[in-house]
Formats: sequence, C-alpha cells, structure tokens
Amino acid sequence: MAQHARFHYASLDELKADIAKLGVNIPVSSNIGILGQPMKIGNSTVPNRLAITPMEGCDGTADGRPSELTRRRYRRFAEGGSGLLWFEATAVVDEGRANPRQLSIKEETTGDFAAMLQESLSVAKEAGYERPYTVLQLTHSGRYSNPGGSGPAPRVAALNPHLDSRFPSVYVMTDEDLERLEDRYVAAAVMAAEAGFDAVDIKNCHGYLLAELLSAHTREGRYGGSFENRTRLVCNIADKIKNKLGDKIALAVRLGVFDEVPYPYGWGVDRQDYHKPDFSEPAELLKLLWGKGVKLINISMGSPYYNPHLTRPYDVGAYLPPKHPLEGVERLLGAAKTLQAAVPDAAFMGVGLSWLRHFAPYIAAGCIEQGWFNLAGFGRQAFAYPEFAGDLLRKGAFDPAKTCLACSKCTTIMRDGGCTGCVPRDGAVYVPIYKKGREGKAPAESDRVAEHV
Ligand SMILES: Cc1cc2nc3c(=O)[nH]c(=O)nc-3n(C[C@H](O)[C@H](O)[C@H](O)COP(=O)(O)O)c2cc1C
Ligand code: SF4
Repeated sequence: MAQHARFHYASLDELKADIAKLGVNIPVSSNIGILGQPMKIGNSTVPNRLAITPMEGCDGTADGRPSELTRRRYRRFAEGGSGLLWFEATAVVDEGRANPRQLSIKEETTGDFAAMLQESLSVAKEAGYERPYTVLQLTHSGRYSNPGGSGPAPRVAALNPHLDSRFPSVYVMTDEDLERLEDRYVAAAVMAAEAGFDAVDIKNCHGYLLAELLSAHTREGRYGGSFENRTRLVCNIADKIKNKLGDKIALAVRLGVFDEVPYPYGWGVDRQDYHKPDFSEPAELLKLLWGKGVKLINISMGSPYYNPHLTRPYDVGAYLPPKHPLEGVERLLGAAKTLQAAVPDAAFMGVGLSWLRHFAPYIAAGCIEQGWFNLAGFGRQAFAYPEFAGDLLRKGAFDPAKTCLACSKCTTIMRDGGCTGCVPRDGAVYVPIYKKGREGKAPAESDRVAEHV
C-alpha cells in the first residue's frame, strides 16, 4: 500500500511510470478512437463510450421539480457530447429524499422531468451530436433520508451497530413498508417512461435503502437473512416494472459492490477481513438481474457518508485515505473488470476516472479495449468540464485547463447544505454558494491546500 499523493503528472509517461512503480493493474492505451464507437443497449444506440454517471446537484425545488440550476446542469451535459446521460438520484417517495432539494418524481412533477429531458436532447442536437441515451436514477435515501432538511429522519433496512450511533433514533422499515415501496418504484418507472427516458436505474449503492438491504443479514422476515431475501426488493421491483412496462423502458442498476463495513453488516466484503472485497454475491446478483432484463449496469463502492474515498479517489477530502489514489482507481476499475466478466453481454459502466484528469481517456480506452467495461463513466469531470466528451471526439484530447481537480469542494457544498457544482471551474455560479456555506465554519481541508490547486 503506497501513501496518499496528490495528482502531479506532467505527462502520460510520468503517469505510466507511477502505475508501474506502484504495481497497480491499470491498462493504458493510445487507441482513444475506441471511445467514439457507438454501441447498442437493446434496440437503442449509445453514440459513443463517454458517459456521465449520476451527479446530484441538490438544487431541485421544494416539491421536487428540476430548478433552473438543475436544467442548466443537464443543458451543459447534453451540449458536451457524452453518449449517455445518467440523470441524478431522484426520490420515489418524498420521505426518502436525502435533502429538501433532491428531485422527486411524482404525478405533479413528471411534466417538469419531460421538459428537462426534451430540452437536453434538443441542446445535444443543436450542438451537432447524436441523441444521447438517457437514464433516470430512482432512489430511496433510507438511513440518509432528510426530507425536511431539519435533521436526519433515517428509515433503515436493519439495525447496524457501526452506523446507528450517528443518529438519535432510527426507524426500521417493516416488510409492509417495503412491499408498498416496490409499487412506488413501479409508479416512478411509469412516470419516467412517460417523461421519455430510455431507462430507469434502480439505485443500490452508497448506503441508501436498497444497498442496505443487500447486507441485511440480521433482519428477520421476507427481506432479510438469506441471499434470496436480501435481494428480494430489487428483484421484485425489476420484475414488477418489466411486467407493467415490458420494453417501454429499459432497466438499469447502479450497484455498490463493496462497502467495507464488517460482516454481517457489510456487502461485497470478505467475511473474515472486511477491508477485502468479495464480489461473489454482487456477481450472483448481477447475473440474476441480467436474467430479469436489466441491460445496463453501473457500479460503485463505499458511501459518501463513511468512506468517500472508495467512491471517488481524490486529492483532498474529509480525510486523507491510507492509499494512493491510483490504488483507489485500480480498485474501482478492477471491480468493473471482475463483474463485467460475470455478465459479459451487459452494457457495463466503469467509474473512478475523474482523478486521472486529462489522461483519463487513455485509461478508459485501455479498459474498453481489454473488455473490462464498455462505457467510461465520468462524475466530477462532468461538473468541472461538461464538454469533455465533445473535446475528445472533435479535438482528440481533454483540455488540461478544464479538468476536475479532485478537490472535493463540490462535496463540501453538499455537506454545508447548498446547491452544488464545480467551484474552481464553474466559479461564477458556485464560488458564492461555496463561500456562503462555509461562513462561520472551520476551513475545509480543500481551503487549506487551495494555493496548490
Ligand atoms: C457532488 C456529487 C454528487 C453525486 N451524486 C450522485 C448521485 O446522484 N447518484 C449516484 O449514484 N452517485 C452520485 N455521485 C457519485 C458519482 O456518480 C461517481 O460515482 C463518483 O463521483 C466517482 O466518479 P468520478 O471519479 O468520475 O467523480 C455523486 C458524487 C458527487 C461528488
Ligand atoms: S469542485 Fe470541481 S474540481 Fe473540485 S472535485 Fe468537484 S468537480 Fe472536481
């Protein structure tokens, strides 16, 4: 394990040298043309392999509609030429919103989602790009629900001695609550289809409700204990959506594959050493979901609330992880490799590329060339540099002056309760929000090192 280091590479050769020195398995290829190749998901075409993975802006209206700031984000994403736009976490019930500005899909807001989607597709067309594939991520924030913004209102899958003490009290959802929730996901999928999305993602990651159920070994009843019970909710939702909508909307899943919480509370972990992943159950679940018609998979790890470095390798964050960010990149890309092999025909998105800045395309190309995944997902890069795909496709490279700096300021805004976006690269909008959120608070780690950024 090598010590944490900040990004410091002046050339691809320097990055390659560090990859070799650290002994990490990260493929690099100069065949970046591969990123411009279209691919199919069912009968739909994804025009290129550069994709935007879901990025929540926490800027919806009080009743869950996209605001002008939300629409601005998706116009910028669409204008940037990415082949796939994965719209952010959207609550299926208001009590499951993570904050009072999280998007929420319901009868009253469906028209606003349709308008946002149509606007994004028109902008992509005007910019000369083929229609991107579009996915709406459906969520219930479970333990991290805070719908009123006045404090946590956790609704959990099971008691968890590692996490419960962070909350004054937790409500364990009953089997009846969960069964009712299945129908809310179906209703949300119906509305997403009406709005015109190509696919819905049944989100199962980052410690939210469905992810927590996957490791509910200690829960009693129909949704806990055995593998079949722990995966019942996501499987039932997939079956019910398929029964109701057939091919009117495709099914996608964003699956957390390793949460680094000790067994029997962790998922994707080695039962003896929870710091080590064990992908056997995530692989089994993906095969099951593939059989149920889930065509598109996007994987992630960890939780922004208790081990954010697993989710997003960074230069500066709430704490500095013990590992080098390249080891974090390797862990994310390697998980995609292992799990894509379990469902070889699925459209599979790998993530964790933003830390690599303008060298990311070479790593994305290497992974796609070697079959580790077939879509390269970018999160923070899209906040910082929404036209990254277009620049690669039209100019052959990312512009180093525009890339994400992995400074975690967008996460700091979120934690401070603001509407988020890129502070250094989209400063006219987000510097004032960042500063307002920081008023009266101790400096964030990212402020202390800002002079180096
Ligand atoms: C501000 C912010 C918002 C995010 N919102 C979501 C979200 O709505 N849904 C989700 O699955 N992941 C979300 N993520 C995680 C990203 O999709 C992505 O997995 C992570 O940032 C790592 O990819 P990257 O290295 O390209 O940034 C968010 C991350 C950040 C920093
Ligand atoms: S604030 Fe901008 S540069 Fe910093 S991590 Fe977020 S997207 Fe990247």
